[in-house]
Amino acid sequence: MRFVNSFETKIKKIVKEKGLTYSIDTMGCQMNENDSSKYMGILESMGFTKTTSDKANIILFNTCCVRENAENTLFGRLGFLKQRKLKEDDVYIVVVGCMTQQRHILDKIKSSYRFVDIVLGTNSMSLFPEKLYNVLCLSRKEIEYIDVGNEIEEDIPIIYEDKYKASVSIIYGCNNFCSYCIVPYVRGRERSRKPEDILKDIKKLAEKGYKEIMLLGQNVNSYGNDFEEKYNFPDLLKDIEKIDGIEIIRFMSPHPKDFKDDLVEVIKNSKKIARQIHLPLQSGSTRILKEMNRKYTKEDYLNIAMKLKNADENISLSTDIIVGFPGETEEDFMETLDVVSKVKFDQIYMFIYSKREGTRAARMPDFVTNEEKVKRLERLKKLYEDNLPKLNEKMIGKTYNVLVEGKSKNNKELYTGRTSQNKVVIFEANNDKIGKIVKVKIDSEHLWYLKGVIEE
Ligand code: 5AD
Ligand code: SF4
Repeated sequence: MRFVNSFETKIKKIVKEKGLTYSIDTMGCQMNENDSSKYMGILESMGFTKTTSDKANIILFNTCCVRENAENTLFGRLGFLKQRKLKEDDVYIVVVGCMTQQRHILDKIKSSYRFVDIVLGTNSMSLFPEKLYNVLCLSRKEIEYIDVGNEIEEDIPIIYEDKYKASVSIIYGCNNFCSYCIVPYVRGRERSRKPEDILKDIKKLAEKGYKEIMLLGQNVNSYGNDFEEKYNFPDLLKDIEKIDGIEIIRFMSPHPKDFKDDLVEVIKNSKKIARQIHLPLQSGSTRILKEMNRKYTKEDYLNIAMKLKNADENISLSTDIIVGFPGETEEDFMETLDVVSKVKFDQIYMFIYSKREGTRAARMPDFVTNEEKVKRLERLKKLYEDNLPKLNEKMIGKTYNVLVEGKSKNNKELYTGRTSQNKVVIFEANNDKIGKIVKVKIDSEHLWYLKGVIEE
């Protein structure tokens, strides 16, 4: 489906008359960040200007429901806005994203947060202008459940806050139904964007001077499974590689069960695919992986990690790990620690298991106490952080290509960027270097970042 905004002119007029503004509060993952960039694109194409949430007319919350605490965050923020909504005219509250695909959230909004104006699901962005028009001009409320469906919404305007790095969704939805995960219920079934649509978007970004692309999907290596003719994720990567101007290609997340040799081969031969692969482990215990419905074993995972390291020793790995999955024993957890000490991840996103109603794991008996889960998280964190300096030290004395992103936030004298391995580096530079790829020789490590010197 192609996005057409037939309300653009009418809304633009009102926005201009009243000088209306917007704010966006994004929770959750990079997919949500990407959706927020599209909401920005739609709003700015209608003349709204961005401001902070305490001043904005349209206050948009892009929600996440992967973990339970996000619900409290949303309702806390909504509650806080009630007074503004009661006191001021032209304040409109919009709730979009994953939470809105859950009926109980909609019921709660309808019963206890009736001042919310628009609720829009994860695959209904093209309805946003019409709903906005109905709210702004007809004083209606637009709070109905909309099924995710199978449509792909193309041509939605998009605004990136970054000038050199951009994310591009390649596949929406997920078919995997990992037993702990709510995503397949709120983002629907897998739908791959057509290669020509993706390549067109990336070419446009390259023409605008973008150097780095992050390809997004819940499971990027399912890309193309829904096509009649064979065209898969490695094929897409090869085609993106050919686009002049794009220098760095990243993607997240691939699923270990679908990480085949053809993908390793493409990564190995590519000059542009970043030497960092995010490969979610979730657990190192084959027993728990089975309970999680992940469809790979500890050995399968270690095997892929080894193949990647063999393809290029400069490849660094990052991962997601859940601790305290229902029934996770000390032995199971030790298996996770074993994988962590063997693979030596450069980055680990660690989560304590969060029960999500409606998922299979929510019905599994859970003997692990909360205290124990927190302890396991701390142990995992310690193992990871103890190993990190050793990984960083290996980089000292070597030279890396770094895309200069701008001034360092913590050290205004210096500039910052990332190596292909996604390591933050700070160094002396000047404004001319921003947006360019420079060679930086690393001279010291500081756990979360490296320091270096530009080599001319
Ligand atoms: N509890 C904790 N972590 C979860 N994730 C997904 N669902 C849950 C859950 N119920 C984590 C997984 C996934 C990441 C995006 O979020 O590690 O890879
Ligand atoms: Fe959730 Fe598993 Fe799909 Fe990732 S692959 S979104 S963890 S169900």
